[in-house]
Amino acid sequence: MKFSAVVAVDLGWLIGAEGRLPWRISSDLKRFKALTMGKSLVMGRATYASIGRALPGRRCVVMTRREGFEAPGCEVVGSVREALELLEGEEEVVIGGGAQIYDLFAQRLDEVHLTVALGRWEGDTRMTPLSPEGWRVERAELHEAGERDDAAHAYVVLRRVEGEGALSREALEEVPRAWWSEEALERVEE
Ligand SMILES: NC(=O)c1ccc[n+]([C@@H]2O[C@H](COP(=O)([O-])OP(=O)(O)OC[C@H]3O[C@@H](n4cnc5c(N)ncnc54)[C@H](OP(=O)(O)O)[C@@H]3O)[C@@H](O)[C@H]2O)c1
Repeated sequence: MKFSAVVAVDLGWLIGAEGRLPWRISSDLKRFKALTMGKSLVMGRATYASIGRALPGRRCVVMTRREGFEAPGCEVVGSVREALELLEGEEEVVIGGGAQIYDLFAQRLDEVHLTVALGRWEGDTRMTPLSPEGWRVERAELHEAGERDDAAHAYVVLRRVEGEGALSREALEEVPRAWWSEEALERVEE
């Protein structure tokens, strides 16, 4: 079973504000849809509440410790173990957040689809920064802000590799420098 995560962070690894995304980047929402369609999608109860419904075309799994929690159109599990049992045999499981759920699966992730919204926002939920060790930059793209977007963003695909430090300045040399602000590079090195 392959585990991937789809996550959007700002330059300070912020992912949420008052139960919502801090920014609006419509092309990133489309990408989220494309990356998760037809797959199993695991999310925390808070993220489910923020979306407010099951996402069509995906096997939605909601994690909660609440007994008897109901999420129409989704399957509900009470632990990582239960989630793994439920999803046994699935080809790919996408971890859709939020911060608590990324933490729970961090050690199992094979691939991360990381959107970096190029700015800093106010908010209350941050992802634990990815470790600088063990990731290779597979792909990196810069997307300028569209008319209905709050900011430009970078889309980076990271693949887990053994024994290599990949989220380093050296590794990011593969990525045209112009795609990253100095601030983003400094953040990545922390
Ligand atoms: N930028 C992004 O890519 C992105 C992606 C997803 C979400 N978000 C944002 O992130 C915020 C939500 O993140 P969050 O970290 O606060 O919440 P979350 O991870 O979505 O959900 C947390 C909940 O998951 C359940 N949970 C946690 N650990 C568990 C375990 N070991 N076993 C069973 N259930 C467990 C608990 O539910 P109970 O309290 O019901 O027990 C907990 O309250 C929102 O603002 C959302 O918009 C952003």
